[in-house]
Amino acid sequence: MNTVKTVRELRAAVARARSEGKRIGLVPTMGNLHSGHAALVAKAAQRADFVVASIFVNPMQFGPSEDLDKYPRTLAADQEKLIQAGCNLLFAPAVEEIYPDGMAVQTRVSVPQLSEGLCGASRPGHFEGVATVVSKLFNMVQPDLAVFGQKDYQQLAVIRALVRDLNMPIQIIGEPTARAEDGLALSSRNGYLTQDQRSAAPALYASLTQVAAAIRAGDRDYPALIATARAQQEAAGFKPDYLEIRHAINLRQVTAEDRDLVIVAAAYIGTTRLIDNLHLDLDAHA
Ligand code: PAF
Repeated sequence: MNTVKTVRELRAAVARARSEGKRIGLVPTMGNLHSGHAALVAKAAQRADFVVASIFVNPMQFGPSEDLDKYPRTLAADQEKLIQAGCNLLFAPAVEEIYPDGMAVQTRVSVPQLSEGLCGASRPGHFEGVATVVSKLFNMVQPDLAVFGQKDYQQLAVIRALVRDLNMPIQIIGEPTARAEDGLALSSRNGYLTQDQRSAAPALYASLTQVAAAIRAGDRDYPALIATARAQQEAAGFKPDYLEIRHAINLRQVTAEDRDLVIVAAAYIGTTRLIDNLHLDLDAHA
């Protein structure tokens, strides 16, 4: 696996692969890779012949009081994991390579509605930063397909929308969330947790599975289900940010008649904000 740092080298390497008739797959990441990322790369390797991963901690998607500076940077370990997972090329640019004239004058991509509410409400500008950098990466690599984790459910919806709205010929693949044995969704931010917080953290997903079980059993009193789940999270030491049942495709508010649902949550444990979700297609389970 080659590691390149400039767009010029990236384009040259991808052009070589394409001239050999290879299908190109892209896995954008911010590094500090865990087995969830490895699964994204493995999925890309199944569906494409040449897998490009990117590692870029994108300052545009971090708010002023967020964890940009302390976000873990672990390039050497990440390179090892990418090799194991079947990655062919790593693009690991500096901030100046992506935003050569600075972020203030950078053209931005914004996806209305889908970017509002949920994580968009507590992280203003976050999805504009994601949509902008992902659009840039898509234009730099011009992949046939790109793989993203379903853990960032709203992000995946935003990316699907931008690809559709900007007519990018890229297939977007959502990979199911990788979890620890106790159910906690794998995340680079889990590394911030103390031992006690790590022990309590599976309560986040447990609260979502209880809501899902109640809905499957026919309960449609969503406000009551949400209130119970919030109380469960609080009892485990979480401070819920949001916990909602939304439509799985367009993330709009649901009615009791909707069948394709996603239960989405963000909650603080100490100063660490964790997110998770559970997709519930009632017709698939009927
Ligand atoms: O999910 C992430 O790690 C980031 O938001 C992404 C998609 C790599 C864009 O910076």
